[in-house]
Amino acid sequence: MLHTLVTKHSGNRSLLESQAARESNARSYPRRLPLAIKRAEGIHVTDMDGKTYYDCLAGAGTLALGHNHPVVVEAIKSALDQKLPLHTLDITTPLKEAFVDELFASLPEEFAKDARIHFCAPTGADAIEAAVKLAKTVTGRSAMFSFHGGYHGSTHAAMSLSGTLHQKNEIQGLMPEVHFLPYPYAYRCPFGVGGEQCHRLSTRYIRSILNDPESGVRLPAAMVLEVVQGEGGAIPAPVEWLREIRRITEEHGILLIVDEVQTGFGRTGKLFAFEHAGIVPDILVLSKAIGGSLPLSVLVYRKQFDCWKPGAHIGTFRGNQLAMAAGLASLKYINSENIPEQASLRGRQLMQHLTALKQEVSEIGDVRGLGLMIGVEIVDGQGKADSLGQPLANPALASAIQRKCFQKGLILELGGRHSSVVRFLPPLIVTESQMHSIMQIFAEAVREACSASAGISVIA
Ligand SMILES: Cc1ncc(COP(=O)(O)O)c(C=O)c1O
Repeated sequence: MLHTLVTKHSGNRSLLESQAARESNARSYPRRLPLAIKRAEGIHVTDMDGKTYYDCLAGAGTLALGHNHPVVVEAIKSALDQKLPLHTLDITTPLKEAFVDELFASLPEEFAKDARIHFCAPTGADAIEAAVKLAKTVTGRSAMFSFHGGYHGSTHAAMSLSGTLHQKNEIQGLMPEVHFLPYPYAYRCPFGVGGEQCHRLSTRYIRSILNDPESGVRLPAAMVLEVVQGEGGAIPAPVEWLREIRRITEEHGILLIVDEVQTGFGRTGKLFAFEHAGIVPDILVLSKAIGGSLPLSVLVYRKQFDCWKPGAHIGTFRGNQLAMAAGLASLKYINSENIPEQASLRGRQLMQHLTALKQEVSEIGDVRGLGLMIGVEIVDGQGKADSLGQPLANPALASAIQRKCFQKGLILELGGRHSSVVRFLPPLIVTESQMHSIMQIFAEAVREACSASAGISVIA
């Protein structure tokens, strides 16, 4: 039956046309990545025209082990062969127990020894909703702190906590009392100073809001942050900043929600990105890679905050056993094969190439990231600046680079301010030689797009 489905269509075109005709106008990726996928393995996807690509989007960071990794496929097959239930609401099973065992064993001990887990209805955004509700229940407060450039999902509350004005401008009545704080984005420093001063001023400003009885900002229930802003343009927070944030939140009794939906399970070179700073969150939000390619999301939080009532956050699809099987197998493999270390090595390899390319190409304004979460910020090549003295973003060129890469068989996504950051989010199993080829394609695409770019507009 599946075979007939694939052979019924001769190429990309008919499927793309049908998709455009029948799916909602809110669809997103297919607009920039116009392919229909026939098969996928490891870092590769092959489209209906038979063209194979390096997939450096990897399900927006979901596919830590790439497509159809043998340990994931085996875990799913084995669950099916054993006639395990596919879905159990939040009723427990031996598989769920094993998943929780492995997850808790993988967390820093001081967090795991006293932790509770809540299974959410399986998206990152739903877990963020749950985290907000838990923090409000625990503290009895209503305000929330979030950061400029952050992304936490597309549901109502998660979107309210996100920077994404293009989405938010269309929607009235967002969640009230969300206060946005400056993230330590040194390249476009909100204080205009950059460097280390950028993160110092950020935490100083936050302290001042909290200490000033006339700041107008009520004490929040929680602060939510990404250790590396993903959709915001692969911006890593300095460890000193994270430690100071942890001190501030502790001093003021603000719950620290660390959103590791994108960074979780090894992507940044540690299993969890907060480990780089040696801090421990109050509430940890996980999704994407934890289901080993399938939908799953959880909150892990300190036991002392387990004060919500039975049924306080529910949702039908909290018992996806295939996702738990795939997630358990992935996590075991990630731990036993030291995949975070691999991600770190490959990330360094890519950063070296990109930094060398930046010396040659004036349109590359910044190269940054952590592990295999890397961004290349594309700017005006003449060095023109905006009214704040910051480099002009060059979304048209970023988009041209993405298109060139796509034509040459490399799938990359854009993010960041004005979508002018080209983002690398490959599976963590990418090899040295694959990374070499990816970099060659990227460098060629950048050179070609730049030489064709005369007249391409920048954001003033
Ligand atoms: C950091 C972060 N949080 C939350 C989300 C939302 O997850 P989902 O798309 O599964 O709702 C995303 C999605 O990209 C994310 O990157």
